Amino acid sequence: MSVEEDRKKAKVKLKGICGVYRICDGDPSRLCQGQSYGRKLGLGGVGSGASFTNNVKALTKIKLKMKTIDPHLEPNTETTFLGKKILFPIMGASVTGVNSFGGEEVITEKELCRAIVLGCKDAGTIGFRGDTYTYSLENTYGLDAIEEADGWGIKIIKPREQETIKQFIKKAEKIKAIAVGVDVDGCGSVIMAKHEKPAFRKTVNDLKELISSTNLPFIVKGIMNIEDAESAVRAGAKAIVVSNHGGRVLDHTPGTADVLPDIVQVVKGKTTILLDGGIRTGYDVLKVMALGADGVLMGRDVIRAAVGGGAAGVTRLMKHIQSTLQKAMKMTGCETVKDICIDILY
Ligand SMILES: Cc1cc2nc3c(=O)[nH]c(=O)nc-3n(C[C@H](O)[C@H](O)[C@H](O)COP(=O)(O)O)c2cc1C
Repeated sequence: MSVEEDRKKAKVKLKGICGVYRICDGDPSRLCQGQSYGRKLGLGGVGSGASFTNNVKALTKIKLKMKTIDPHLEPNTETTFLGKKILFPIMGASVTGVNSFGGEEVITEKELCRAIVLGCKDAGTIGFRGDTYTYSLENTYGLDAIEEADGWGIKIIKPREQETIKQFIKKAEKIKAIAVGVDVDGCGSVIMAKHEKPAFRKTVNDLKELISSTNLPFIVKGIMNIEDAESAVRAGAKAIVVSNHGGRVLDHTPGTADVLPDIVQVVKGKTTILLDGGIRTGYDVLKVMALGADGVLMGRDVIRAAVGGGAAGVTRLMKHIQSTLQKAMKMTGCETVKDICIDILY
């Protein structure tokens, strides 16, 4: 099996939901778009899809500087995240909710979680797991997969009511997960409220309370401006994810790579900075790391890999992105991830 074959399989299974296009950019002409006319969100972006599209546009604007007259080098993509060694700075995003993209006929929630967590682990990286209305303290698909991987995974919890989040955190501690976190932009989820599991905006004090309730490193996901980045650092976040939820929670935001430089300027060195949204290739990874991100998450492509090839499909995708990153590092003169800097951009 190859990444291409996994994608072909996924295209069949996701018929009518996702076109598995060469360019996945949330353009209004894409199969996944059209929510503004009452369609389900599926794998698309909210409203017009502008936030989803802006993620991809922001990456396209960035140009890599090819530089080859220098001593030969074989790039090493290894890095660490929250003290854990990973073979490359690319991780599986916290994507959930198979009901929104075809349900059990496509893949079960349990299998999606297993594929991402175990597939990432096999590739030498980490799978994040998310949270949606079908999850509860009893139905803990993501945590179950992380437990199966001996704790090798990260649980991102929706900004639910504080006590519920704390109970999820306790469960994550029990299975020795690498870290926990909250997707603060998940307060934009209408589906949680519809199912009587409302999500809330969180204050710095709310985050502090959650962070002080655990010894696990805490991640704040869904940062799109310097004020929120500073608040997350003030609360004690060990990492932040610059993210607009793949353009799924608010229409007309900028792309994540557009807002990254300002955020880097204020919090670099104070917390670990991840980014997601539109990352599809190793070139994209190199671009945002050159802007100062410490690593990336991949969402939609990981879903397609899981649907088409299960855990093995996710492993194949991750290794493929790693090899492209390696190639890009060689062509821009970066021997290690520490060598990736703004100088490799025009
Ligand atoms: C179908 C789908 C479900 C998602 N579910 C969650 C979730 O439960 N929790 C979360 O933090 N983010 C969720 N996200 C957002 C992703 O974690 C990530 O931010 C986004 O997918 C990155 O953009 P990309 O898909 O273009 O790579 C979801 C995204 C998609 C496409």
